[in-house]
Amino acid sequence: MKIKTAVFVKSSSLHEQCPKADRPEYAFIGRSNVGKSSLINALTGFGSLAKTSSKPGKTQVINHFMINDTWYLVDLPGYGYAKVSQTDRQKWAQMIDGYLFNRENLTCTFVLVDSRIEPQKIDLEFMEKLGANGVPFCIVFTKTDKLRPPQLQTQLDNYRAKLLETWQEVPLIFVTSSESRVGQKEVLAQIEEWNKSN
Ligand code: GTP
Ligand code: MG
Repeated sequence: MKIKTAVFVKSSSLHEQCPKADRPEYAFIGRSNVGKSSLINALTGFGSLAKTSSKPGKTQVINHFMINDTWYLVDLPGYGYAKVSQTDRQKWAQMIDGYLFNRENLTCTFVLVDSRIEPQKIDLEFMEKLGANGVPFCIVFTKTDKLRPPQLQTQLDNYRAKLLETWQEVPLIFVTSSESRVGQKEVLAQIEEWNKSN
């Protein structure tokens, strides 16, 4: 799919404030600093659409971007950032859950995980929560430019094995890098497929 237009629509701190749920929507979620905003920029090809930072906790609200006038891409705040106060962390968690569990046009949630580290309890539990609430999701390995191919393969094999301890089937996994643009075509092709059936 070719991205012709990518436009910031609005920031919301409650799911009730989000734009009208009248078109397919895809949300990017994952731990703080995993690369959600960077991947949104890489995918759309519009360099600074979503704000990124080397410091975790950059994205703090639900950000809607309209793509090609036909679908929404959503940048969410990260979870699990230790330096945020307990109150703020709870507030973000409520905002994220409120959005994910109530957004009726949410076609798929992309759960981003850092390809360089072992499966994290916080990510696995987050996926279980999505499953328990019937929220469809797939997994995106990020920052794969930091790994050599054999290392990446080992990480992928480990992740799949870990998932199979809980899940009957492994969800769809995309291998990406916002630096090298690996995986971009595959993610966009999948979104195009889903858009057709929605
Ligand atoms: P929060 O909004 O704070 O939750 O973070 P985020 O998940 O949106 O991460 P963001 O996109 O802001 O990126 C965090 C840091 O990781 C930045 O310093 C990025 O430059 C870096 N980064 C993101 N994607 C990649 C990647 O594919 N490769 C490499 N090498 N660095 C990346
Ligand atoms: Mg961000």
